[in-house]
Amino acid sequence: MASFAESAWDALSIHSLDQRRQGVISGNTMRQGRIVFQNRCRPVASMQEQTMTKTIGETTLRDKVRDAYSAAAADPTSQHAFPVGRQFAESLGYPAEILDTLPGRAIEAFAGVSNVSILARIPAGATVLDLGCGAGTDSLISAQRVGRGGRVIAVDFSSAMLERARDAARESGLENIEFRLADAERVPLDDAEVDVAIVNGIFNLNPAREAIFRELARIVAPGGSLFAAELVLQEPLPVSEKSSEANWFA
Ligand SMILES: C[S@@+](CC[C@H](N)C(=O)[O-])C[C@H]1O[C@@H](n2cnc3c(N)ncnc32)[C@H](O)[C@@H]1O
Repeated sequence: MASFAESAWDALSIHSLDQRRQGVISGNTMRQGRIVFQNRCRPVASMQEQTMTKTIGETTLRDKVRDAYSAAAADPTSQHAFPVGRQFAESLGYPAEILDTLPGRAIEAFAGVSNVSILARIPAGATVLDLGCGAGTDSLISAQRVGRGGRVIAVDFSSAMLERARDAARESGLENIEFRLADAERVPLDDAEVDVAIVNGIFNLNPAREAIFRELARIVAPGGSLFAAELVLQEPLPVSEKSSEANWFA
């Protein structure tokens, strides 16, 4: 039987938007530590992963990822290797009227790959994990959706991003969000503590993605859900692009 992580990658489904590169794992039910998927499609991402991990050491890469997103948190309007901000969020399908309810501090540093918190089934009263929360757009929307009886745990390894998300939560008046500075592979939560996990663009940034899937399987309660979005390739990249460090983020 395929490992949990292999099953997860097999299940990435091409969803919408830029169909060449964008994939969404949607509505996946966690049952006994496994995900049951609705659609099947194999991305080329694992080939890129192999090349990049040979080219750049894992620790260095982790630092570069953290630095790149911390720079986006510090100055969202300057040039970055990935799109950032409200206009981009709207282009991914976040409704303007929902963005209007959120502090600019979060949205101006939005750097996700899909409108996961809009697409996800998030019941009132649920406990939600936003893994790789960045400046908190999905955390805030989830906090609105779960209501006062629910709870959102927002996790990121960039303290600059997390600080933005914290400021935004304070400004919004939402009191049901907790923030944790942590690695996605070691999230400080108990087994089966969350009902719904949302992940808006973290897997491609991490060679250790199997460990992230394992951690999600540990944290999400049996019968809970994982909604994740990631960019996928539908055709191989030229070798020169594959081994370019900048391309890791783009
Ligand atoms: C593509 S951005 C998306 C941010 C946010 N979800 C959004 O929609 O704006 C990925 C985020 O994940 C964080 N991240 C990447 N790898 C991580 C890891 N291994 N552990 C914790 N956070 C990580 C980055 O700091 C960044 O904020």
